[in-house]
Amino acid sequence: MAEQERTLVIAKPDAMQRGLAGEILARLERRGLRIEGLKLLQIDRALAERHYAEHQGKPFYEGLVSYITACPVVVAVFAGPNAIAAVRSTIGATNPSNAAPGTIRGDFGLEVGRNLIHASDGPESARREVGLFFARDELATYDRAIDQWIRE
Ligand code: RTP
Ligand code: MG
Repeated sequence: MAEQERTLVIAKPDAMQRGLAGEILARLERRGLRIEGLKLLQIDRALAERHYAEHQGKPFYEGLVSYITACPVVVAVFAGPNAIAAVRSTIGATNPSNAAPGTIRGDFGLEVGRNLIHASDGPESARREVGLFFARDELATYDRAIDQWIRE
């Protein structure tokens, strides 16, 4: 079987307010990815600043922090072969106006500042972000009988 990866996903406040958290989780589960961590929490400014440290100083930064801290969000860790790229392709381009139909952002979004979902963009950010939101004992690795029909 291919190598397993973990990636962090956040159903952002607009997804929560629009009742789309379940739809987002369901699409990623249907892709074949396995949930290894899941929680509801309200991100505070300190956590937002750590999570989005790479964007500090950019023109959209303050708006981004207000957006991500606006209400409780669902945070999940998804695992599977090439999970990081699989989630990124399922969510679509950062700006929903460029996101392909069939992707989460392409199906539900219109503007970059309301793009519904966060997903780690590479192995290093995935490791960092999973560690930012989950303690080791909040994550579970387990087998599913169905995995033999998802992974060769
Ligand atoms: P994310 O980190 O949230 O998964 O999104 P991403 O990798 O696709 O995009 P990234 O470049 O990391 O940007 C982080 C978030 O900042 C907001 N943004 N606004 N107004 C703008 O020009 C702008 N650019 C980025 C979006 O919410 C984006 O998801
Ligand atoms: Mg990003």
